[in-house]
Amino acid sequence: MQPTPFSHNAFWSQLLNSRLVPDRESLLAAVEEMKVWTVLMAEHAKFIRLGLDPNPNQEELFRMADQFAIELDRLYSRTIIAPNAPDETLYILREETIVLVNKLIQFKKELFQALESCQGLAILPAILVDHVRREADRFVGTLERSKHDQQTRSRDTLGLSGGGQLAQTVPRQLYHRLPPQQLFTVAVEETMFFSRIHSEHAEHLSMSFRPEVQESHRQTAIRFHHDYNNLLMQAAEVEQSGTQLRQLIDEERKLSHAFRDYLGQLLDEISTCRIPTGQTNFPPLLADHMRREVIYFIDILDRFRFS
Ligand SMILES: [Fe+2]
Ligand SMILES: [Fe+2]
Repeated sequence: MQPTPFSHNAFWSQLLNSRLVPDRESLLAAVEEMKVWTVLMAEHAKFIRLGLDPNPNQEELFRMADQFAIELDRLYSRTIIAPNAPDETLYILREETIVLVNKLIQFKKELFQALESCQGLAILPAILVDHVRREADRFVGTLERSKHDQQTRSRDTLGLSGGGQLAQTVPRQLYHRLPPQQLFTVAVEETMFFSRIHSEHAEHLSMSFRPEVQESHRQTAIRFHHDYNNLLMQAAEVEQSGTQLRQLIDEERKLSHAFRDYLGQLLDEISTCRIPTGQTNFPPLLADHMRREVIYFIDILDRFRFS
């Protein structure tokens, strides 16, 4: 797979001549999403690379995952740009990110189907491949939304109830532009999306600790799994009734602070080999990856201010 070239002046001049000139605030909001998610996407590719069965038939898949990791790491390094970078640079970076992550989404979809139908083999659970695909779809959704206010991802695609209805996927830094009713929908959708995501993180950890010797870690992970599931159901009720959003957000914040601290402590125990037996059956980076995703969610929650 080759990097996707995008930069060409003709396209940019055409854009400037049209009425579709990007607004700077939207471009900067997209870059802020890219700073967080290109790293996480690169790590997804690395987790896939690590989790595939190394039989000779899967060499191609392994190399594709590796190439995605290389390309996404490069994209991430380009998101650390000067605050006064020209609009054209930001625009091109956003376009290249959309193209590359859309290819990654396709790769994850095909891998998920291969694992589900037993045509591919991995220690990586199929459900986790679907999980990282949903995160990638939400990420591209935020970038598309920053372009001319386009909604491109259905709630179904993001694993939310509501079928073919389009999801909001508004970048965090643009919430202040939304009228209250739309902000309510964004809050409910993000709460549902990340409750499911963190519930799956906790469930995956609970299945990955070493039997007996890491039992107390497993029990704590199971509690987080259940607590996030409960909040997922609560979020659906809030959407139905149109009430008690503030209470839901407070509970999400409280649970997410506790989950963030648990993951931080876990990472500390693993990286100093103080966890019982000194190691875990999952890569240490996974705990840090999950911790950064919960920190991102806390940042989202802190942005919802309802009077
Ligand atoms: Fe992730
Ligand atoms: Fe995740």
